[in-house]
Amino acid sequence: MKALVRAERPTDRGAIDVVHLASFPTPAEATLVAKLRATGDLSISLVAELDKSIVGHVAFGGGRGLIGVLPAYRHQGIAAGLLEAGIETCRAAGVELPPAFVEPPTERTRQRREPLAMILALGPKGELGQSGRVPWDVREDRAFFATTTRGHAVIMGRRTWEERRSPLPGRTNFVVSTSIGPLEGAESFSTLSAAIAAARARGAMPFVIGGARLYEEGLGEATRVYLTEIGEPAPEADVFFHLDRSRLVEVASWFGASGERYRILEPLTR
Ligand SMILES: NC(=O)c1ccc[n+]([C@@H]2O[C@H](COP(=O)([O-])OP(=O)(O)OC[C@H]3O[C@@H](n4cnc5c(N)ncnc54)[C@H](OP(=O)(O)O)[C@@H]3O)[C@@H](O)[C@H]2O)c1
Repeated sequence: MKALVRAERPTDRGAIDVVHLASFPTPAEATLVAKLRATGDLSISLVAELDKSIVGHVAFGGGRGLIGVLPAYRHQGIAAGLLEAGIETCRAAGVELPPAFVEPPTERTRQRREPLAMILALGPKGELGQSGRVPWDVREDRAFFATTTRGHAVIMGRRTWEERRSPLPGRTNFVVSTSIGPLEGAESFSTLSAAIAAARARGAMPFVIGGARLYEEGLGEATRVYLTEIGEPAPEADVFFHLDRSRLVEVASWFGASGERYRILEPLTR
């Protein structure tokens, strides 16, 4: 199947970040793309989409060009397709082509820290859940969550799994529990570290998707946090998570149509 190359949308920003995190040995390139966007210097930004998953990205801006493709989708002509479309778009828009191009190493070099992502939405008081569900229904945030995690491995606690009782489509589903039996469409692990190791062994980016205990435990190892701050309080909330923002550095932030704020955060290394 040929990848569809199209312009980025706001809900693609997390998935683009993940492409570069998975492509390069350090988060520097992912952060560069976010910074270029924030300063208005990201002249051209195109994604490669395959079966609704963002699998590649090309960026031109600030006198540079940068290309990333998820490791599982290399050697399929996706980088070449992105590059061709990127050059054409630059020419049509009168954007000067950069003298140098940043490309990921052909063979993945050893990571300083293996990537581990966390994605969550929090209310103003740390509200996380209500009666076994997410307290709000923000359409753009649902799209952001789906686009960011699609094609990767999602790791959730038993109660979060029980909320749906069916796997999230297009993702490898892992459930962490000491009590749950065999599952249809998901695998269970008795510890978070076993689930993370299983995701990595399959070449998938592990995403911790909740609830509170998994976030608490995962934060120590996380290399990226995708946080949606919902302004509307949820007075009936019964699950809370205190995210210690003093341990996190902001890479990017923007607002959604309903006033919610999306933030890409990088935990400080100890
Ligand atoms: N706002 C958001 O972004 C977001 C994201 C996810 C979930 N939620 C909401 O949060 C609520 C669920 O969260 P929750 O914190 O109550 O429950 P949860 O984390 O989904 O599930 C808790 C259960 O998961 C297992 N578990 C969790 N951490 C474990 C660990 N480190 N090792 C072994 N087992 C572990 C345990 O199962 P056993 O008892 O079987 O051992 C534990 O009882 C729901 O309302 C859901 O909708 C919100």
